[in-house]
Amino acid sequence: MIGLRRMGGYFIGLNVRRLKRVAFIMSGHRDYRTRRYFPLDLGLAPSVDRIMDFRNFGYMPVDLGPALTSELIAASERKIGEIGVEGTVPINGTRFFRDALQQSDYDPGSPFMRFALDESILNTVGQYLDSAPLIASIELIYSMPSGVSEDDRSKSQWFHRDHIGKKIAKLFVYIRDVERQNGPLRFIPLEASKKVPWWQQIPHHIPDEIMGKYVDEGELVEYCGEAGSAVFVDTDRLFHCGSRCSEPRLAFIVNYTTGFNYRGRCISKLWLPENTSEHRLSRLQRLALGQPS
Ligand SMILES: [Fe+2]
Repeated sequence: MIGLRRMGGYFIGLNVRRLKRVAFIMSGHRDYRTRRYFPLDLGLAPSVDRIMDFRNFGYMPVDLGPALTSELIAASERKIGEIGVEGTVPINGTRFFRDALQQSDYDPGSPFMRFALDESILNTVGQYLDSAPLIASIELIYSMPSGVSEDDRSKSQWFHRDHIGKKIAKLFVYIRDVERQNGPLRFIPLEASKKVPWWQQIPHHIPDEIMGKYVDEGELVEYCGEAGSAVFVDTDRLFHCGSRCSEPRLAFIVNYTTGFNYRGRCISKLWLPENTSEHRLSRLQRLALGQPS
């Protein structure tokens, strides 16, 4: 009986969220149209096929190149050096997942925001989203060793989908080398993710044992890589988890959305900066900050 009630609630909740999104699009239709029909190029994706792969599989590793990554890696190391691990802030009350960024890092002139606002990245994400993207959040995540044993895991260490919008694209950039012991991002490509029935997502997280009933071990992607490795993942459509680490992990994560999500804009922990004119932002970059074009 309780199970049925939970399922019903989940079903109703999902549809209410979709309706809210439609209402949000209608109330912001001018902005929606500007974003939807913004002229974009392929950015970091060398061909349309790569974008199609992103759409078909729900993820896309990218080569950002040293020019983009070196400044980000240096700024991240500087930040951790300045504030120390004790200066990082736990996210959602979890012990293992901590953000190192502070208010000043959200300024469009900071190295972190300059990276998130890079036009080649915005164009790539925009091609996937079919919209000029909005930056919903940036985070410099320090993952602490914990939750390695099944009993000790919590929240995002279990498989889940984010349920933020119809499509989102998170860009994960490893600041230090990530191997298995560092708790790499793990995700299940789109076709395999679709095999998991909706009712298994109640309330939100799925134990490995249940996931194993629907998805073969070989279908799981464990994204390891050297510092500077980067991957876009639609964490709304793909089941994912991470930070199951026995050694720390340091990663920079940018969450790009269309700006029209189930719960509105869903901008977390950000800005909006009062005066951005000094930064000489392009139209696409202003849209990424949620400003009128
Ligand atoms: Fe997630």
